[in-house]
Amino acid sequence: MSPELPMVVPAPGLPERVTIYEVGARDGLQNEQTVVPVEVKAEFLDRLAGSGLGVCEATSFVHPKWVPQLADAAELLARLTRAPGVDYPVLVPNERGLDRALDAGIEHVAVFASATETFAQRNLNRSLDGQFAMFDTVVTRALDAGLRVRGYVSMCFGDPWEGAVDPGQVAAVGRRLHEMGCHQLSLGDTIGTGTPGHVDAVLDACTAAGVPMEQLAVHFHDTYGQALSNTLAALRRGVTTVDASAGGLGGCPYAESATGNLATEDLVWMLDGLGVAHGVDLDALVATSAWMAQQLGRPSPSRVVRALAG
Ligand code: HMG
Ligand code: MG
Repeated sequence: MSPELPMVVPAPGLPERVTIYEVGARDGLQNEQTVVPVEVKAEFLDRLAGSGLGVCEATSFVHPKWVPQLADAAELLARLTRAPGVDYPVLVPNERGLDRALDAGIEHVAVFASATETFAQRNLNRSLDGQFAMFDTVVTRALDAGLRVRGYVSMCFGDPWEGAVDPGQVAAVGRRLHEMGCHQLSLGDTIGTGTPGHVDAVLDACTAAGVPMEQLAVHFHDTYGQALSNTLAALRRGVTTVDASAGGLGGCPYAESATGNLATEDLVWMLDGLGVAHGVDLDALVATSAWMAQQLGRPSPSRVVRALAG
């Protein structure tokens, strides 16, 4: 263990335990300039699971021309040693993606909706309404096959083309995914413009629309340095699943202003200081992100990785 650890000082109104939903292998690597070799991806996932992360989103079964970085999804899953008890969800936008995920023996998939018209067009080649027509059959078929389906909502706090996004619009999109049967909704601040009061407003709008707080997860990007404060705001409201990316990898290939996701190490440091359980071995995770930074040829943007990896 590192001698530098935060002193544990619990704060009131927080959950006892948080599930960290690790997205580095998917949300992180989908945005790399180069394609990371499949064996490096497999080792990355092995190491993430080995550091105690119970949910490691593995890849996406999207169109390989749209996201060439993840074109090796089937090969990756065939190679992967799936650690017992670890959940390896994948993204699927449509029936073709679902078929590929079923072939790979996946048990947990995620559809990804946009809260805005422009991003639905740019990310999915569909209108805002058209995206639901695409997801409807995917979710129905996945549930019939016994899979669990997560629903992402992107651009919940701002959109690079449309500007401010009405929380009511986010809630309306989230509600449709919830009604389809998604077991959890991940509210994405894809470009990182949100601030803590805004988090409250979006959570309020979603719960008012009928999505229970225990089915909401948060997905923050650190573009403007707000990811941890936004996370704390969400935890105070009763959210217990937080998306994060090892080493702060990430962005979105179809939203240029999206930079890194909340770094898992930065989240773990805060949770440790607050005495909130999460099950992750910080030293093992930092070593993994330092190794991945070497593979990618540039330092991790995570402050905790930089402080501890030295
Ligand atoms: P499209 O071009 O409209 O697709 O793309 P289509 O349905 O018209 O099909 C055209 C061809 O693509 C067909 O082949 C299909 O078989 C094939 P053809 O008959 O012409 O030979 N095809 C596929 N092949 C393999 N796998 C598939 C697949 N689907 C169709 N799944 C589509 C529509 C949705 C496929 C495309 O827009 C796409 O792949 N988009 C994905 C974009 C993406 O992955 N973005 C990043 C993830 S979202 C994100 O990062 C945000 C998030 O992290 C949250 C946050 O950060 O806030 C979740
Ligand atoms: Mg993201």
